[in-house]
Amino acid sequence: MKVIICETRDEMSRKGAEIFAERIKAKADLVIGLATGSTPEGLYAELAKKNAASEIDFSKVRSFNLDEYLGIAPDHDQSYRFFMNQKLFDNINIDKANTRVLDGLAADPAAECAKFEDEIKAAGGVDLQLLGIGSNGHIAFNEPGSPKDSRTRVVDLTESTIKDNSRFFASADEVPKQALSMGNGAILEAKEIVMLANGANKAKAVAAALEGPESEDCPASLLQAHDNVTVVLDAEAAAELQKEY
Ligand code: PGA
Repeated sequence: MKVIICETRDEMSRKGAEIFAERIKAKADLVIGLATGSTPEGLYAELAKKNAASEIDFSKVRSFNLDEYLGIAPDHDQSYRFFMNQKLFDNINIDKANTRVLDGLAADPAAECAKFEDEIKAAGGVDLQLLGIGSNGHIAFNEPGSPKDSRTRVVDLTESTIKDNSRFFASADEVPKQALSMGNGAILEAKEIVMLANGANKAKAVAAALEGPESEDCPASLLQAHDNVTVVLDAEAAAELQKEY
């Protein structure tokens, strides 16, 4: 894995956005995999700036999001569809018809997951996948113990993820207990992956992912098996790394 250590979160966001901008300039119809949470917000703001400055064009770009809460409507202010519209899609010239977020209200969630994977396949696969990392080492909602070959499916959230995400809800009780999530196996099929992490609460998970054993106990460590991964960190998230990068 290529590791880039930045001093600040802003620098992390800029570096991550540069990678996306380069790839979109090289391939106008790039298929991007997107993530939600606090981590990518700065990267999305950078992409919007570059789009406004006509540096990059999203008109042919297609996107797939990693996950969505189960039982939450797309227009709910904590849904990941709502987040993506607000933080990125409404601020760039992407065609919303080319943006795909799993439907948290699907009548048949398993069928929705299968359809989502078929759509990725029909698009030619994900060219560039953006990831964050949970404080417990999760990627998307693949909690510790999620199989290496897992596909897009309904998953249960762990107590630690519910606690981490309760900051966005009135209380932990309101955080959905399940989600639809791309599996580790589905994520690892992306041709290239960029994982971002910032903040001291990510330092242990980052160290386990990069320097620990490749293990389902830390889903982010499964990225070690992929041959085109760049990890962009701020200084706090890199604080527990032992090796020199
Ligand atoms: P965060 O979440 O960006 O809100 O810290 C990251 C994740 O859980 O993947």
